Amino acid sequence: MSNDSIEAPAPHREGNEPFASILNRRLSRRGLLKTAAIGAPLVALSTSPLLGARLFGGASLADVAGASGHAGAGGGGPVGIESIPHDLDDTVNIASGYAAEVLIRWGDPVLAGAPAFDLNNQTAAAARRQFGFNCDYVGFMPLDPGSVRFGLLSVNHEYTAGGDMFPGYDSDNPTAEQVAVEIANHGMSVVRVSRRGNGTWYYHPESYYNRRIHGETPIVPTGPAAGSAYLQTAADPTGMDIRGMFNNCGGGKTPWGTILTCEENFHQYFANNDAVEETAQARNARYGAPGGESFRKWERFERRFDLAQEPNEINRHGYVVEIDPYDPTSTPRKHTALGRFKHEAANTTLSDDNRVVVYSGDDQRFDYMYKFVSRNAFNPYNRAENLNLLEAGTLYVAKFDDSGAGEWIPLVPDGPLAGWSLADICVFTREAADLVGATPMDRPEDIEVNPVNRRVYAVMTNNTRRTEEQVDGPNPRGPNTYGHILELTENGGDAAATTFTWDIFILCGDPANEEHGTYFAGFEQGELDSIATPDNIAFDRAGNLWVTTDGQPRALEAADATYVIPTAGPERGRLRRFMTGVPGGEVTGPEFTPDDTALFLAIQHPGERGGLDEPTSTWPDGDFPRPSVIVTRKLDGGVIGT
Ligand code: FEO
Ligand code: CA
Ligand code: CA
Ligand code: CA
Repeated sequence: MSNDSIEAPAPHREGNEPFASILNRRLSRRGLLKTAAIGAPLVALSTSPLLGARLFGGASLADVAGASGHAGAGGGGPVGIESIPHDLDDTVNIASGYAAEVLIRWGDPVLAGAPAFDLNNQTAAAARRQFGFNCDYVGFMPLDPGSVRFGLLSVNHEYTAGGDMFPGYDSDNPTAEQVAVEIANHGMSVVRVSRRGNGTWYYHPESYYNRRIHGETPIVPTGPAAGSAYLQTAADPTGMDIRGMFNNCGGGKTPWGTILTCEENFHQYFANNDAVEETAQARNARYGAPGGESFRKWERFERRFDLAQEPNEINRHGYVVEIDPYDPTSTPRKHTALGRFKHEAANTTLSDDNRVVVYSGDDQRFDYMYKFVSRNAFNPYNRAENLNLLEAGTLYVAKFDDSGAGEWIPLVPDGPLAGWSLADICVFTREAADLVGATPMDRPEDIEVNPVNRRVYAVMTNNTRRTEEQVDGPNPRGPNTYGHILELTENGGDAAATTFTWDIFILCGDPANEEHGTYFAGFEQGELDSIATPDNIAFDRAGNLWVTTDGQPRALEAADATYVIPTAGPERGRLRRFMTGVPGGEVTGPEFTPDDTALFLAIQHPGERGGLDEPTSTWPDGDFPRPSVIVTRKLDGGVIGT
């Protein structure tokens, strides 16, 4: 979902406004970047500790990848893809030599006993056994160590929209059953998937591993806020028994083979903040909670969504949730130690001393970038212990310096946060970050470590409200209509470092339009296609950056799409458009198999804004739009991008 349509939160505290910056400083910085980027040597090309860890079980990639690989190891291309046009038609288009096929659609059966999907007779009971709505993050885990043909696909169902789900939906008067169906369509599906000999993929309905997590699923909180007064409600006086996860947007994977799925716009499910006492009201307002009724109106049917009745329920949402896809009986856990904000995603790497580092962006205009460093180290031989790693550690927030340096400021009960408890920090994280002077960013989305050069790539999707007076080094355009991608280098290459340096990697837009002020890591712009509103990213094994977009129809009158951008060598910054989506639908969830022969993508909310009654898309089946996961592959079975 685009946060452009979401109510802005309360303003940041005084003294923490974005740096005032001036146009010529921005230009001189960009001039410097252009010169520096061309001949910049790469920092230590050490192999990522996560490369092997991408395969739960410890098999090395060399075991599974075979001899074929990317011609341009090191993220330097050449990427053997011919860029395609940005046509906004009602088909998924893909580069020549590749195929894009639907794998699973909204309503498809997931669990045993799921009825066939019936648009006109939806029930919550059926939806709890079927693939949910608006698929977003996609995570592939090999089913057996080293397997690239058999896996478990974990897919987020970010949010629902009654008008896109129910024929004749009346947004003023949703029915109790419609609300129950929507609650059931949230969360996540885990499905077993297999690759056939001919290279195509299918999923197994009714597999033992299949799972549906939805808005009623029991979830246990961990960490400093678990069981605290902030999480206690009339329905759960223990503060330890949460029902459901909502608005799970992006995600990530851990080295021990679990999925991190992230609650993003959780505020929009709650109503009547005006009725809450003053302190809590201000805290809720910092997250954008509506003062009156919610646009979904779930509060009419379930008291937990009414802040006037359950003022603490909102504190139980906004977390990173860890799910073990290999154990369908396991209880998902909300890790409060990673903070409470509109988590776009959560991507892990390991520090030099094997602690787990998790990067996560808070996707709101002028909000922040965070990283969590675990207290204990990852132990490749003890999965049970690793499952507790995200329960204790230090949460940091990023403060950028216009000169190209930056600092990770710990959110600890000290200095500006003296008198705060750890539970306070973990529940009211935005306020804590306001107080320590974090840098307000242009809607931080996915943040991921390049497995080859170890740099951290952070996506700022756009910020149409940043003014020219508010531009600064890391957010150099106001308004920022097209978005940009930052490239951070942790001090000494250690992910646990508390300082970093940064550069701008891509300033998005149409290079043919000088007013957009685009920049593509110094690459000659005349040859390049347009890109806007970058959102989720993934890296192939060679270190090339793959980017999906959310909002190109509005920003560029172009289809949302997937791009690939080399990060090193003479092709660094050379953008290619790999595939395009359909009207109304963003493209999300870029996820490779461990051998890079398949790239999974999600087409979220096809036909959005037209609703079911006047759909702008009938993809994928020609009758009505259905959010679906697709798999893209090279027709010759080779590595994507070669
Ligand atoms: Fe759900 Fe930040 O996109
Ligand atoms: Ca987005
Ligand atoms: Ca997103
Ligand atoms: Ca990603």
